[in-house]
Amino acid sequence: MNKALSGKTAIVTGASSGIGYTTAVSLARAGAAVVVQARRKERLDKLASEILSQGGKALVVAGDASRREEIGSLLERALHWDEGGSKVDIVVVNAGRGLAGGVLSSNESAWREIFELNVLGAAHLMRVAAEYMVERKGGDIVVLGSVVGRNVSPFSGFYGSSKFAIGGLAEGLRREVCAHGVRVSLVMPGIVLSEFQDVAGYDEENFGKGVAPFGKLLDPGDIAAGIVWLLSLPAHVNVNEVTIRPTGQNYP
Ligand SMILES: NC(=O)c1ccc[n+]([C@@H]2O[C@H](COP(=O)([O-])OP(=O)(O)OC[C@H]3O[C@@H](n4cnc5c(N)ncnc54)[C@H](OP(=O)(O)O)[C@@H]3O)[C@@H](O)[C@H]2O)c1
Repeated sequence: MNKALSGKTAIVTGASSGIGYTTAVSLARAGAAVVVQARRKERLDKLASEILSQGGKALVVAGDASRREEIGSLLERALHWDEGGSKVDIVVVNAGRGLAGGVLSSNESAWREIFELNVLGAAHLMRVAAEYMVERKGGDIVVLGSVVGRNVSPFSGFYGSSKFAIGGLAEGLRREVCAHGVRVSLVMPGIVLSEFQDVAGYDEENFGKGVAPFGKLLDPGDIAAGIVWLLSLPAHVNVNEVTIRPTGQNYP
């Protein structure tokens, strides 16, 4: 059966959990061969088994998405993967982490990691992917931003600032590469239930109270479905920004 992304090969970073994990599964179901990256290899092995059991193709490349040399080798590994056709059509720049609080209240020891992962690591991957895709005259780079990268909140001002930065880089890159047939799409989720909240250090009670009025929150599959949708559009159509919120989320 011909599926929307048959014959394509995708890299997904941060694929051991949440949005990345589910996006990798969804891309594989849509026909893409997927190269999955994150630090926790055992999680990636489980993901690859799931994809293989459904008739898909997966390559595990464990690594750190904030380390420049590992980003370069991620692309190289993908380009040497025979089953993936030794090429890359799609790169989902997803690895990232949150941090509770703003300038006054966030944990300062996490500041550097936030920017090294959410901004610099992401930018390096965008660069190596874009250089390769410009040469090939086509491809897709999907970048995970956030609604707090547009509407900063005092509860996540520090993390939000990293998402403002990556949103700016995504739009700047789009303008640099669009004439070469490369699409750049910034996906800005609202609240998605995943490991994100624990890693960010959200206070269970305050977070619960804050989101209670929003009703049903998103699950990672809601974002994955949006990503597969925009990647499945004809090559001349670039959904370059999309915000996906729980229907009841009024802010941020
Ligand atoms: N959940 C939300 O409400 C929400 C809202 C807006 C935007 N986002 C964005 O969506 C993306 C995914 O978030 P999520 O909700 O899926 O969070 P998650 O469940 O915590 O998943 C984060 C993923 O990133 C990986 N990761 C973290 N540090 C890494 C590193 N140094 N190198 C490689 N991988 C690393 C983690 O894997 P390892 O720990 O195994 O490395 C994990 O697979 C992030 O960019 C996040 O900022 C999330």
